[in-house]
Amino acid sequence: MKIVVTGGAGFIGSHVCGELLRRGVPEVVAFDDLSTGTAANLDGTGADLRTGTILDRDALAAACAGAGSVIHLAALPSVPRSLADPIASHEANATGTLNVLDAARTTGAYVVVASSSSVYGTQPGFPRTEDMAAYPVSPYAVSKLAAESYAAAYARSFAAPTLAVRLFNVFGPRQRADSPYAAVIPRFIQAALTGQPLQVHGDGLQTRDFTFVASVADVLCEAAIRKITHDRPVNLAFGTRTSLVTVIDLLAQALARPLDVVHLDPRPGDVRDSQAGTDLFRRLFPAARPHDLLNALTDTVAWHRQQAVAASMPG
Ligand SMILES: NC(=O)c1ccc[n+]([C@@H]2O[C@H](COP(=O)([O-])OP(=O)(O)OC[C@H]3O[C@@H](n4cnc5c(N)ncnc54)[C@H](O)[C@@H]3O)[C@@H](O)[C@H]2O)c1
Repeated sequence: MKIVVTGGAGFIGSHVCGELLRRGVPEVVAFDDLSTGTAANLDGTGADLRTGTILDRDALAAACAGAGSVIHLAALPSVPRSLADPIASHEANATGTLNVLDAARTTGAYVVVASSSSVYGTQPGFPRTEDMAAYPVSPYAVSKLAAESYAAAYARSFAAPTLAVRLFNVFGPRQRADSPYAAVIPRFIQAALTGQPLQVHGDGLQTRDFTFVASVADVLCEAAIRKITHDRPVNLAFGTRTSLVTVIDLLAQALARPLDVVHLDPRPGDVRDSQAGTDLFRRLFPAARPHDLLNALTDTVAWHRQQAVAASMPG
């Protein structure tokens, strides 16, 4: 079977492409406009990179021709990015998802769509279970709510085989630190490796359900190969709640030295705690396994170190 990974040159997408090929999928096409992803992320994976935007329906249709499944990850991620340019986020994340679902509808391909825990917003109540009402507080969250709603509506309206998964804070090798919108773990690691203090917004006791990228890639591959469907979005995380202070302690262990921390004002609109309810996820993906957080952070630090060495080499 041919599988298309939109956003395949990105952080999560490149791990997914590698895992699909490791599992013996004969043809893996990464369809990506390289806006935040890089061709280098696919080095050594064997995936076929087609450069194009999901906003170009002809290019998308050409990439999806003959595909049995599509893993849809292309998006402009990040809440702050959507505050800076809400329309660009809407176009890539909402309109782009509609284009992907429609391209797949015409060929009968299965689609798994990446949504986000941000759809739960700042409402109280833990853990976040799928039966909670959505309460998006940013344009990014709205665009993801639209994306997952389109996936469900295509299933209900056209009997299209779809699944929407809500990812929680994913981290691991190839997650960019060199962007103003970088996520917290790559920012911390980059600061630690360059001798800067780690900047923590607020007291550092805010918690997240950190998910290692290899676990996410495993689940997405499983979904696409077995064409797992569900008529509602499903959390994809293991129900852990780890504070930033704990992450910093573990990074200090991974680096075998203490780390300087500076506390800044809390970020407006930041969610205090985030943790997935996992009953539905466990039912649909009983074989999914979390990775040990310290080992996963150690692997991530090793990748950042390698990047720094490669960047310092002449030529
Ligand atoms: N990383 C997380 O913690 C997290 C959490 C929740 C949801 N997600 C979702 O997972 C998906 C992957 O995120 P990521 O963290 O790997 O980010 P990423 O930025 O590395 O990946 C997104 C990829 O999509 C590509 N892209 C963007 N706009 C495109 C367009 N118009 N056409 C084609 N390609 C386009 C980018 O070049 C990039 O390669 C996104 O949909 C994101 O919203 C990620």
